[in-house]
Amino acid sequence: MKSTLEILQKHFDSSSIKTEKEDLENYGTDWTRYFNPNPVAIFFPKHIDEIQKIVLLANEHHFVLVPSGGRTGLSGAAVAKKEEVIVSFDKLNQIISYNELDQSITVEAGAITEEIQNFAKEKELLYPIDFASKGSSQIGGNIATNAGGVNVLKYGMTREWVLGMKVVTAKGEILEFNQGLIKNATGYDFRHLFIGSEGTLGFIVEATLKLTRAPKEKQVILFGIPNMEKVVKVMNTFRAELDLLAFEFFSDATVDYVMEHTHVGLPLAKRYPFYTIMEFESNNGKNTELVFSIYQKLYQKGWILDDIFGGDEQTIKHLWGYRENISSSISSFIPYKNDLSVRISNIHSFLSETEDIVKNNYPDFIVLWYGHIADGNLHLNILKPNKLSVKEFEEKCKKVNLLIFEIVKKYKGSISAEHGVGLLKKDYLEYSRSKEEIEYMKLIKNIFDPNNIMNRGKVFDT
Ligand code: MLT
Ligand code: ZN
Repeated sequence: MKSTLEILQKHFDSSSIKTEKEDLENYGTDWTRYFNPNPVAIFFPKHIDEIQKIVLLANEHHFVLVPSGGRTGLSGAAVAKKEEVIVSFDKLNQIISYNELDQSITVEAGAITEEIQNFAKEKELLYPIDFASKGSSQIGGNIATNAGGVNVLKYGMTREWVLGMKVVTAKGEILEFNQGLIKNATGYDFRHLFIGSEGTLGFIVEATLKLTRAPKEKQVILFGIPNMEKVVKVMNTFRAELDLLAFEFFSDATVDYVMEHTHVGLPLAKRYPFYTIMEFESNNGKNTELVFSIYQKLYQKGWILDDIFGGDEQTIKHLWGYRENISSSISSFIPYKNDLSVRISNIHSFLSETEDIVKNNYPDFIVLWYGHIADGNLHLNILKPNKLSVKEFEEKCKKVNLLIFEIVKKYKGSISAEHGVGLLKKDYLEYSRSKEEIEYMKLIKNIFDPNNIMNRGKVFDT
């Protein structure tokens, strides 16, 4: 019987296959640090028909394929640890077309998120999905995980921006969904099934994305805030009065890591337990005035303790750095990451209950909070103390996780708001989805992928 590698070598040009140890390690993992990569090879298709061909071969010869974009994911969905073949989109990364009247753009799945943003900018439009890893993440991965980021409050998740999609299913058919239409009431919308499917149903190979008007005169204000209760109250006060582009928060401890990693000083003259960063459109100064009048009231009440305003591009970038650089600044400390969400109305009680669990169970661990408070999405990161091995640390975190997930369940929240399930969260899926739902997910997977060749073992075991 031929090995998987021999099959690949027989059917594809050797320049499209990589097997060097360093490449296997690099392409075999994502930004999670808990899994040991062990793929057979990495395949770099240049045409969609090559994807179709490898899918048919995988079905015939029973090997497993792992779709691979920028591998900036945080749940292990792009990890290959069981002798899979990685299918990289690095060479399918073109912007195919732009339609001025439709205000849409059609791209190959390997197109880098930031390049799409820049292209939109050249056309004086906006592709609004934005997050720190945009410089290397690819749109196919963004769609496969329904990526969120810092502007969800205003623009929603990736799902809102996908007008059409071309996929190669796990059976090898090429299907086109929704053809760039805004309205299309003709039954089940498979586009939405593939969005967030984490590569378990097939390959997303092309997408048509909606663009929108770019906000003019963006302004940013960073506040120092005494506690989480006030973080929520400050946010609600502002968003009741004006249309915000973003409202994010981070705890004081995160600032040390960003300062160290990016060589900046404190964001404000003194330290405060929490910080928020709020972005809005100036609207010819009208919103700026409104923001300052609300700010003054909240300052007098003691809900806001200090502020710094950014009106020019450089200051805005500097202030955003305190939030956007947290993830990269802490990554060398192998954080145990939680990506939780609850309804806004439950945030406050959810947080105080979770904080109690965290304080009681991690008295000597460094605990960092940050995230998209306006989406009810909190990133809880626990840093590994030097004295513990990665394994010991992971074991301890997993135990406490169960307590936290019980609270998530009680509030009908999500154990993964935007990072996906992948390998990291699949054992906990039942905390957020019912048994019946999971059973339906498995049935759907089986319809598209009867031989289980696509990203096997991700999201759930089949
Ligand atoms: C973020 O919001 O910074 C990203 O989701 C990454 C992370 O959680 O570390
Ligand atoms: Zn996030």
